[in-house]
Amino acid sequence: MGENSIRTLMVYYSFEGNIEYVATKVKEYLGADIERLIPDTEPPRKGLGKFLAGGHSALFNKLPNLESLKYNVSDYDQLIIASPVWAGTYTPSIGAFLRDNKIQGKRIYLIASSASGNAEKMLLKLEDALIGNNVVETLSLQNPLKNTADTDSQIQNFCHRISNL
Ligand SMILES: Cc1cc2nc3c(=O)[nH]c(=O)nc-3n(C[C@H](O)[C@H](O)[C@H](O)COP(=O)(O)O)c2cc1C
Repeated sequence: MGENSIRTLMVYYSFEGNIEYVATKVKEYLGADIERLIPDTEPPRKGLGKFLAGGHSALFNKLPNLESLKYNVSDYDQLIIASPVWAGTYTPSIGAFLRDNKIQGKRIYLIASSASGNAEKMLLKLEDALIGNNVVETLSLQNPLKNTADTDSQIQNFCHRISNL
């Protein structure tokens, strides 16, 4: 441990593997600790019900219970919070994480994954929910699993900026 001993925890939720992939890359490039949020309820895996139930839970802020976390958020100076976009906003598991942990005074990096590439609203809502922290940078990824070479370089650049800030 030298001067670069700022501790970073990445907290994420992934339903269909995109953010999960992003997390493996952040681990590889930044060496951050990685916390996957596991909710007690999720939408059906297939069909229209996936979008209806998932979209409804996100829009109406129906928050699940989460499995207990492996890491203690208060041990970290920096958090990377990563979520898919659901119905224009962040996922209920991220909402539950923010409900359960009073996040204050941290440096925060946000990562969004969406099908449309438009994560502006979700990022603004997350920033609102994180008042009292310093949101340093945001990254919006479009279908990261569709082009992993492109994703890898975006995450590598992002991690490079984090470790130099
Ligand atoms: C319930 C649900 C709602 C979604 N709503 C949106 C949306 O409003 N806008 C969008 O661009 N993508 C939307 N998507 C697509 C996901 O944001 C996108 O596929 C994301 O990369 C998934 O991340 P994951 O694989 O880590 O779960 C939605 C997906 C689901 C399952």
